[in-house]
Amino acid sequence: MSHQEDEPRGHIPVLAHEVCELMPAKAGDVVIDVTVGLGGHASLFAELIGPTGTLIGLDVDPENLSLAKQKLADVAPRVEMVQANFADLSSVLEQVGVERANLILADLGVNSAHLDQPERGFSFRHDGPLDMRMNPKLVTTAADLVNRLTEKELASLFFYNAQEMKSRRIAKWICEQRKDSRILNTGRLAEIVSRAVGVNPESRKSKIHPATRTFQALRMAVNDEIPCLEGLLAKAPDILVEGGRFGVIAFHSVEDRPVKLDFRQRKTDGIYRILTKKPIVASAEERDSNPRARSAKLRVVERLPVE
Ligand SMILES: C[S@@+](CC[C@H](N)C(=O)[O-])C[C@H]1O[C@@H](n2cnc3c(N)ncnc32)[C@H](O)[C@@H]1O
Repeated sequence: MSHQEDEPRGHIPVLAHEVCELMPAKAGDVVIDVTVGLGGHASLFAELIGPTGTLIGLDVDPENLSLAKQKLADVAPRVEMVQANFADLSSVLEQVGVERANLILADLGVNSAHLDQPERGFSFRHDGPLDMRMNPKLVTTAADLVNRLTEKELASLFFYNAQEMKSRRIAKWICEQRKDSRILNTGRLAEIVSRAVGVNPESRKSKIHPATRTFQALRMAVNDEIPCLEGLLAKAPDILVEGGRFGVIAFHSVEDRPVKLDFRQRKTDGIYRILTKKPIVASAEERDSNPRARSAKLRVVERLPVE
């Protein structure tokens, strides 16, 4: 999964120093944090933009949004917190009466609050219902996919969403096992996958849990992550002011790739200047203190003037 499951309790915004450096907020700016999460990056921006600034936060998850609201309750800027998918950013801006922004930040994937709650079904380390919906109003859960898709569909999902090289084997095992009874729990799925790939998750040799990619792939499908990201990438240029900056933090190559390709294409089209030739990764110190930072990649672009 995009964020490692050994993240310590308590929230540390990833690449905070690098985000502030490459996306310098100043007094009066309009900043949109499209994945406000627990409000870590947003509170850093809030401090910089001050009482004349506007901070807009989006999150699909109402629980996270309410935690962010609490965290940002006393900050100086005007704050608008909206439960919404960033694919719908244009209508959110219409709703709050804002047209343009100086900075847009997306810090993709799930966060510690998701992984820490077994009942949300994101974690292969704690048993819980196989759910994985960031927005509880979504209709399809991970259990629905695991029990409903054909073997071939499951294999492609694992391969394309997470580059799982043993996708066919895992799909075959899942289809065999679900004949006995429906697979409804994270613990059972993690065990089936571990047995399918023949790796003991407790083994010191396996660096990541054998079910990591399978869980990532399912989570991405349940939450429609890549199409939503593509929706955001398409809208950002129209929302940014000239000189405005757009930063995306991705945690694995399947979500980093569309960002890289979009930024490159829009550079060719004269829309963006790329500020991160290579993606920015965390310092050794941050990687040591925050395991979630180990796979983080930050890319930032600047909106060029419209001809
Ligand atoms: C990695 S966390 C963000 C952490 C945040 N930067 C902080 O410092 O607290 C990602 C958040 O984005 C939310 N999210 C994921 N996909 C989303 C989407 N398409 N639209 C809106 N929010 C989304 C998740 O619910 C989660 O709370």
